[in-house]
Order: sequence, then C-alpha cells, then structure tokens
Amino acid sequence: MSEEASDLDEVARKLFSGPIAFLKSAPSLNFLPAPAAPEVAFAGRSNVGKSSLLNKLTNRRDLARTSNTPGRTQELNFFDIGEPLRMRLVDMPGYGFAKAPKDVAKKWRFLVNDYLRGRQALKRALVLVDSRHGIKDIDREIMKMLDDAAVSYHLVLTKADKIKATELDEVTAQTAAEARKRPAAHPEIIATSSETGLGIDQLRRAVIEAVV
Ligand code: GTP
Ligand code: MG
Repeated sequence: MSEEASDLDEVARKLFSGPIAFLKSAPSLNFLPAPAAPEVAFAGRSNVGKSSLLNKLTNRRDLARTSNTPGRTQELNFFDIGEPLRMRLVDMPGYGFAKAPKDVAKKWRFLVNDYLRGRQALKRALVLVDSRHGIKDIDREIMKMLDDAAVSYHLVLTKADKIKATELDEVTAQTAAEARKRPAAHPEIIATSSETGLGIDQLRRAVIEAVV
C-alpha cells in the first residue's frame, strides 16, 4: 500500500472510532443545519442499502435506521463526525419507491434534489447502486442532475455479498464504463457489502479524500 493510502487509513481509523453523533433530521430544506462542516451524502434507490452502509462505515449498529421495507428513511438525517477532522454524513430518503403515495414520493425527490444541487457544504455524493441490478435509468436521472449541477459523486456498488465474484467483476466493469462518460463521476467504482465489510476501508478513504 502507498504511504498516502496508509496515512489516510490512519486518519480514517481515528475518525470513525472517535465521536459520532446524530445531529438532526430535516423533513424539508427549512430545517437544514447551518453548514458548519463539509458534508458527504448517501443517495440511491430505495432499499439499496444507504443507511446500512452509513452504519458500517461508522462502525455503529443502529446510528441510521434500516429496514427490509423500502421507504424507511424519510428525511435528511445529519450525523456529526468528530476528530481529527470535522465532517458530516447525510443519510437521505431513497428515490424510486413505487409504493409511496405520489405526493410523498415527489416531496422526497424535491428534497433530495434541492439539497444535492444547492448545498455549498456538500463535498461529494455517494450514489449507491445495487450490485445485483447495476445502474438503472432512475440512477442515470440522479447522475445527470449531479453532472449538470457539477456536484462530484462516487458510484458505490452495494450488497456485493449477494452475487458471485465473477458477476461482481462484470458489474464493476460496466459501472466503470458508465462513470467514464460522466463529467462529475469519480472514475473509481467501490464495491461494498455491509454484511461482510468488503470495500469499507476503500469507502472510508474516499469519504476523507472528499472533505480534506
Ligand atoms: P431506504 O431508507 O428505504 O431508502 O433504504 P436504504 O437504502 O437506507 O436501505 P437499508 O440500509 O435500510 O437496507 C435495506 C435492506 O437491505 C435491509 O434489509 C438491509 O439489511 C439490507 N442490506 C443492506 N446492505 C446490505 C448488504 O450489504 N448485504 C446484504 N445481504 N443486505 C444488505
Ligand atoms: Mg435508509
């Protein structure tokens, strides 16, 4: 491992084993916290594993609430991460939740889009994609919105424990090919599992790189 990567791992180890606390929940933009620290946000389809990955990243079991049922996270949830760096992680409602009442789904979409497009403190979005399905049109919509708003994002494959290694290689290559065509996408694809911990160190480095 390069010296830089091991330095980042050291910062990551300290950061994610130090103080981490729920800050606040914002049901609409009026309730956003003052932008006092750089933010990294978890975006992706409903049930893709955003809240689970946030928990795994921070080594906490129930920091963000997760569920089998899509539509669990309904607000923007801000988490304060303490030392040695000050930053925030933001868990968001998923998009594309077919069973949500139309006006509710619309409200979430506006909330997520307005936050992602307009937040100065947002340093990077993590766009989570289920490794069993790959990028869907609804993900492309979010990616286009981020490209248009020049908000940098990192594509993260989730639930990698659910597919074979050869399938994971394939979906990673396909996702990387799409990322290369996207102006605001990071070229690296991070394959993760909140079950096994696959890719978590790599994801921590990406988060820290985004805020330093
Ligand atoms: P919403 O808040 O509804 O948008 O969902 P979310 O994207 O936050 O998903 P959540 O973390 O609540 O996870 C949804 C379901 O997928 C839960 O039953 C999790 O246990 C499961 N899950 C999440 N990540 C993984 C993973 O890496 N592997 C496996 N096998 N299951 C996972
Ligand atoms: Mg959630």
